[in-house]
Amino acid sequence: MKTQVAIIGAGPAGLMLGHLLELYGIDSVILENRSKEYVIDRVRAGVLEQHVVDLMVRTGVGSRLMKEGLRHEGVHIAFGGTRRRIDFVEHTGKAIWVYGQNEVVLDLIDAREAQGLPLHFEVEGVAVHDIDSEHPSVTYRHEGAEFRLQADFIAGCDGFHGISRPAFPSELLRGFERVYPFAWLGILAHAAPSSEELVYSLHERGFALFSMRTPEITRLYLQCAVDDDIANWPDERIWSELQVRLGTSDGWRPNEGEIFQKSLTPMRSFVAEPMQCGRLFLAGDAAHIVPPTGAKGLNLAVADVRVLAHGLSAFYDGAGERVLRGYSETCLGRIWKAQRFSWWMTQMLHRQSESVDFDLRRQMAELDYVTSSKAAMTSLAENYVGLDLDIPMPRGVE
Ligand code: APR
Ligand code: PHB
Repeated sequence: MKTQVAIIGAGPAGLMLGHLLELYGIDSVILENRSKEYVIDRVRAGVLEQHVVDLMVRTGVGSRLMKEGLRHEGVHIAFGGTRRRIDFVEHTGKAIWVYGQNEVVLDLIDAREAQGLPLHFEVEGVAVHDIDSEHPSVTYRHEGAEFRLQADFIAGCDGFHGISRPAFPSELLRGFERVYPFAWLGILAHAAPSSEELVYSLHERGFALFSMRTPEITRLYLQCAVDDDIANWPDERIWSELQVRLGTSDGWRPNEGEIFQKSLTPMRSFVAEPMQCGRLFLAGDAAHIVPPTGAKGLNLAVADVRVLAHGLSAFYDGAGERVLRGYSETCLGRIWKAQRFSWWMTQMLHRQSESVDFDLRRQMAELDYVTSSKAAMTSLAENYVGLDLDIPMPRGVE
């Protein structure tokens, strides 16, 4: 079996890469080790930068996003009993969209299947070979048979725990990591969102975040212990913590409703350098992880694959590997800025371990500054809506 680009992983990175390559006229095969249902049902974050929304709409996978996505022109930050708003449009001219990552994944799977393009779920034993040659390959098992897929290039879009990053020689790869001493408990509840925009809150009991999915579903998060157990969090405890941490003195508080999903998310910052080894390229969570406080994970994954698809199209247009060789450097500039922003939001909004009261006072002062200085609000807003990405759209896309 042969293809031009073998893609490992059907998360947002792998699926969007396959979609872009199709627009560039480049063949690909996507291999995913989980089932289709698992990939579609996996609940993740839900904030899209304008560049992701524009890309989805302009490349023909944005019609449900336009109908069901929620455009947000600002965000609230709550501390000391008050809520302050930062207006994205006023400060940057851009907005963000709330639309679950699993909805993005569903739209991309639907588009790929409608075009009859190869996307295999529940493959096992995926391994990469000869990545230093011009003829790399991927072996795997599917429905009881063994396969070898020959390709010109391999895209490792297989997340943080995938097999692609470990295939780099250890002397080539350098990892940069910070693990935070807390986690997030996230819930989905059948409750109408009581604010039209997100509310990030720092309270002396810890961080909390109010978000949403639809006009009927509220998404909420609470800072909890790094080794916490979901069994420690019966519904009543979750609601009472959320009310205390999010409620403000003007009487605003989240609406309550039936909780139908609960999960714990560890918090980590990680970057692998470089993101290319021979003909194997890493994209998305395979190469970097951000703590969710800056809402950057999916957006960075999409930025990576735009850069990669552009480099691959230059190769097939006869430019050789020159553009592709710049892949790591082009991506890492944006990634480190997003890492900085995600770390900064995280340290500013979370109660530090064994909390030192000095830190809490310092964080309150920072929040006061960030929500009152025009310069600081502009800085937060331009990072939150996403820094500019100077990659052309595929040919033929208006
Ligand atoms: N073989 C095939 N597929 C694999 C393998 C493997 N050995 N290992 C992992 N995978 C699959 C996973 O099951 C998953 O579907 O690769 C996919 C990686 O997808 P994501 O984890 O969603 O990562 P990515 O596409 O880079 O998207 C980044 O995901 O984690 C969130 O918040 C993060 O929004 C960000 C986004
Ligand atoms: C979400 O809606 O899931 C969400 C929003 C903002 C974040 C993280 C997650 O920073």
